[in-house]
Amino acid sequence: MNNLDWTVLDTPQDIAEIACEKLSEIEQEAISKRGVFRIVLAGGSTPKLAYQMLAKQQHQWSAWQVFFGDERCLPADDPQRNSVMAENALLQHVAIADNQIHIIPAELGAQKAAKVYTKTIQNDLPFDLVLLGLGEDGHTASLFPGHAHAQNKMVVAVKNAPKPPAERVSLSKKTLSQCRHLIFLVAGAGKHHAVQQWRNGEPIPAAEIGFLQQGEVLLDGTSVIL
Ligand code: 6PG
Repeated sequence: MNNLDWTVLDTPQDIAEIACEKLSEIEQEAISKRGVFRIVLAGGSTPKLAYQMLAKQQHQWSAWQVFFGDERCLPADDPQRNSVMAENALLQHVAIADNQIHIIPAELGAQKAAKVYTKTIQNDLPFDLVLLGLGEDGHTASLFPGHAHAQNKMVVAVKNAPKPPAERVSLSKKTLSQCRHLIFLVAGAGKHHAVQQWRNGEPIPAAEIGFLQQGEVLLDGTSVIL
């Protein structure tokens, strides 16, 4: 069970600002201790503001190793891809080399991509920071309620996902939990019910992401409707 710190902010802009502040602290700690900053980027639309803000800041980009929490099985250049959103908002604007960016090859299909990505990440655990979103049904990454996955899998192939596209690839709960810091970015009134379920201790997928040390949930006012 997570002992997360919940922070309610006024706007998605505030969430992005606080997320960038916390990311910078985690980045500095990781690089000073290990010389590398391993970050897992969240998909969806909420993180875009934070990515655009990061792109305007100074960071030790050469020490970054960028991974993705999940990906949609679409062509590599499809605008609906999480990797394309991250490229457009952040990665193409900063000095991170291509060999520091580890995109999930979801265009290969879920099964094959899951196998490939398992090899990609196996020597990069634990991550320093995992960023995640929250779906209206309580999903996170591409881990949806009612979808069981083999507990021992590091990366899972997802079929018939309720949020299109149906076919996706996702880091597993086990893998997402292997991190030093975890930050959920949650915005929008549509998330209110999922947040209430979470705070009531219901086992929504987001609530089942454990962590080695520190977890935070950054929410805007509408997602909690105080
Ligand atoms: C995806 C994401 C997914 C997302 C949530 C929230 O591929 O869609 O990985 O888990 O984070 O659905 O999406 P929004 O930020 O767009 O509300």
